[in-house]
This record gives sequence, C-alpha cells and structure tokens, in this order.
Amino acid sequence: MRAWLLLFALLPALAAAGKPPAGKFSNSECVGCHAQRDAALIAAWRASSHARTAPKADCIACHGNSHAGSNARARHDEVCIDCHEKLNRAVVHSYTTSKHAVIVKLQGNAWDWSQPLARGNYRAPGCAYCHLHGAEHDTRLSTTPWDPFQTSVASAQETTLSRRQSVCGDCHAPRYVAEQTGTGERMQKIARMKLREARAAMTDYQGVLSADDRRTIETLFAGMQEHGRNVRLGVGHQSPDYQWWHGQPALDGDLLRIKGVIAERERRVLVERARSAANGGAKPGQP
Ligand code: HEC
Ligand code: HEC
Ligand code: HEC
Ligand code: HEC
Ligand code: HEC
Repeated sequence: MRAWLLLFALLPALAAAGKPPAGKFSNSECVGCHAQRDAALIAAWRASSHARTAPKADCIACHGNSHAGSNARARHDEVCIDCHEKLNRAVVHSYTTSKHAVIVKLQGNAWDWSQPLARGNYRAPGCAYCHLHGAEHDTRLSTTPWDPFQTSVASAQETTLSRRQSVCGDCHAPRYVAEQTGTGERMQKIARMKLREARAAMTDYQGVLSADDRRTIETLFAGMQEHGRNVRLGVGHQSPDYQWWHGQPALDGDLLRIKGVIAERERRVLVERARSAANGGAKPGQP
C-alpha cells in the first residue's frame, strides 16, 4: 500500500523532469506515465492490432522493460520478426527476400540505431522504418485491410498509399516511387481479377458440379486467396519472389485447375446427355 502511494507521489515528479526515469517498469507503468506525456501516442498504439490482438505487442515487447536503449531496440527487425514469423511466415519471408532486407542484414551492424527512423539516418528500411515511421504507433495506418475481391479504392486506402509514398520518398526519387506504386497497384488489380474470375466460374457452374468437384475447387480457391495475398505482400515488401514465384504464376495455376475441373464436369454432363438421348431418354445405367 505504502509502495503504491510512494509511486504515485513520485511518478509525476519524475515525468515532469523530462528525463526518462531509470529502472525497470511494468507495461501498465509505461502506459500510465506516457499517457500523461503523450496521450496521442498511447491512443495510436491502442488503435493498432498490437494492443488488441493476441499475442499483444505491448510497450515492453518492442522497447524492453527499461529506458536503456529502448528506442534503438524497438527499431531493430528482430523484435518484429520474433513475433510475426509465428503469426504468418509469408509476412516475414516476403520482406527477407527483398533487396532492403539484404542491405539491412549485411550493413545494419554498422548503423547508429539511436537515430530516429527518418531521411538520411538509414540506408535501407527495416520493418519499423516503414510501419512505425515518425513514431506513428498506429500500425494500421501503414496497411490497408486485406480484401481479395475489392473492386474500388476506398479513401482510407488513399491515405495509406500517400503515407507509404512519402516513406519511400525518404530514399527514392519521386518518379521512381510513382512508377513502383503504379506497377504495384496494377499487379494487385490483375491478381484480384483472377480471383473474381474463379469465383464467377464457381457460381455459374454450381448446379452441374458434383460434391467432389466442389470440394476440390474450394481447396484450390483457398489456395488462390493465399496466393493473392502473396502478390500484395510481394508488392508491399518489394519481393520479386512473392510477386512472381509465390504470386501471379501460382494464381494462374490455381485458376487453370479450377477451370479444368469445371470443363471435365461439363464434358461428362454432355456425354451423359448424348448417351441418354441415344437410349431414348433412359437414364444412364438403365437397360
Ligand atoms: C514515470 C514515468 C515514466 C515511465 C513509468 C516510463 N517512462 Fe518512458 N519516458 C519518460 C520520460 C520523462 C521520457 C523522456 C522523454 C519525454 O519527455 O517524453 C521517456 C522517454 C521514453 C522513450 C523515448 C526515449 C528516447 O530516447 O527518446 C521511450 C521509447 C520510452 N520512454 C518508453 C518507455 C517504456 C517502454 C516504458 C516501460 C518499460 C516507459 N517508457 C516507462 C517517462 C516514463
Ligand atoms: C511494435 C513495436 C512498438 C510498440 C508496441 C511500441 N513502440 Fe514505441 N516506438 C517503436 C519504434 C520503432 C519507435 C522509434 C520510432 C522512430 O524512430 O521514429 C518508437 C518510439 C517511441 C517513443 C519516442 C517517440 C518520439 O516521438 O520520438 C516513445 C515515447 C514510445 N515509443 C513509447 C511507447 C510506449 C509507451 C509504448 C506502449 C504503449 C510503445 N512505445 C509501444 C516501436 C514500438
Ligand atoms: C508480441 C507480438 C508482436 C510484436 C513484437 C510485433 N507485432 Fe506486429 N502484430 C502482432 C499481431 C498479433 C498483429 C495482428 C495480427 C496480424 O496482423 O497478423 C500485428 C499486426 C501488425 C501490423 C498490421 C497493422 C495492424 O495494426 O493491424 C503491422 C504493420 C505490424 N504488426 C508491424 C509490426 C512491426 C513493424 C513490429 C516491430 C517494430 C511488430 N509488428 C512487432 C504482433 C506483434
Ligand atoms: C519498405 C517498407 C516496408 C518494410 C521494410 C516492411 N513492410 Fe510490412 N508492409 C509494407 C507495405 C507497403 C505493406 C502492404 C500494405 C497494403 O497493401 O495495404 C505491408 C504489409 C504488412 C503487413 C500486413 C500484411 C497483410 O497482408 O495483412 C504486416 C503484418 C507487415 N507488413 C509487417 C511487416 C514486418 C514484420 C516487417 C519486417 C519483417 C515488414 N512489414 C517490413 C511496407 C513495409
Ligand atoms: C531508408 C531508405 C529506403 C527507403 C525508405 C526505401 N528504400 Fe527502396 N531501396 C533502398 C536502397 C538503398 C535500395 C538498393 C538500391 C540498389 O543499390 O540497388 C533499394 C531498393 C529498392 C528496390 C529494388 C530495386 C532493384 O534494383 O531491385 C525497390 C523496388 C524499392 N527499393 C522500392 C521501395 C519502395 C516501394 C519503398 C517504400 C515502400 C522503398 N523502396 C523505401 C532504400 C530505401
């Protein structure tokens, strides 16, 4: 009880001093004290999946439990990868197969990670450079919700896109960024078209498909959604492997196989119809 009183008496005094207090803290202490200093930062973190979705990324997960080197620690890829690799390997692998990740890995040890993630301080971007740029703790602002069937661009997406372009613009010329953005958008549009084409074919032929056909097609279609997401990750993380190898050709293969199942069923239905017409309308199998 007394420890609590002491803490409450001390915390605002320490905080007001404007110097990070020494020692170890629990997550609720980090949140409590920083809410008084920078309410917007705490609100932004609360709005992100990091405060809402298990396994939660609290202050300590990224910064560690003390002020010693807490920003430098949070800027390193390792903190993000440790957790995200378990959540979805493709998210991490699409980054590690990019030129950016290769540079960070080869040269990062020589960089001064106590510097803010801003123009001129780093040669190539790691996870936090893009997703916590300007210390923006609402990571949702750097990503759009994933919707494989989306047909139009929502305004939230426009905001995300312009934020992203300004991050790329720290290191790349505006013209290059515009080209990359345009190509990326087109690539995703094509991927979504393939998904919609598959869905339309499934709906159109629903009546003729057998239960087995439907199961096969549903499995292929689930694969298609994963491969569509790979294209998105390949574009977002600048991974040629994910745009191509794990993306578009994989989608083409899925779509061909779905159409193959449908064509085969159509052929059988036609053969059966022809046969039953030749038998004077008798059902197949009847004498
Ligand atoms: C008693 C208040 C208090 C507590 C508890 C506290 N901080 Fe701080 N923190 C500060 C102050 C004061 C600063 C100095 C910068 C400022 O004015 O905001 C600071 C600065 C920081 C910075 C920026 C460091 C830099 O070099 O610019 C980070 C990151 C940070 N705190 C994270 C944390 C984390 C994570 C925890 C919990 C483990 C925590 N803080 C607990 C008061 C606190
Ligand atoms: C997903 C990882 C992550 C989480 C979770 C996180 N931070 Fe941060 N935080 C960072 C990174 C990375 C930076 C450095 C940003 C930069 O250099 O621009 C940062 C910067 C900061 C800063 C310095 C802000 C500034 O304007 O320079 C403070 C203070 C801070 N974090 C406090 C917190 C507190 C308090 C929490 C918990 C509510 C928290 N952070 C949760 C990654 C995280
Ligand atoms: C303790 C686990 C953990 C850590 C550490 C962590 N994350 Fe996350 N992150 C999650 C979870 C859980 C989600 C929500 C589910 C998902 O997207 O897979 C998420 C979502 C995200 C999203 C999607 C936007 C959102 O808010 O929904 C981005 C971007 C992201 N994290 C980036 C990072 C970066 C960059 C780092 C390192 C600075 C990091 N994460 C560290 C667990 C973590
Ligand atoms: C060069 C900038 C950049 C780097 C580096 C980067 N990301 Fe991303 N990330 C993006 C972009 C752009 C997207 C796509 C957002 C969209 O399409 O709306 C994205 C998407 C994501 C998503 C959402 C995936 C989904 O499909 O829902 C997560 C989670 C994520 N990144 C985490 C990470 C992690 C973890 C790292 C490091 C291992 C990382 N990012 C490195 C820019 C980057
Ligand atoms: C911190 C600096 C930095 C940021 C931010 C950055 N890049 Fe890069 N990027 C580089 C460097 C350095 C290279 C390697 C250039 C080289 O030598 O080939 C590179 C390479 C690339 C390549 C590969 C080019 C090739 O020859 O294969 C693409 C594509 C790319 N960046 C796109 C982006 C996009 C899109 C963004 C924003 C989401 C972005 N970059 C953000 C520094 C950055």
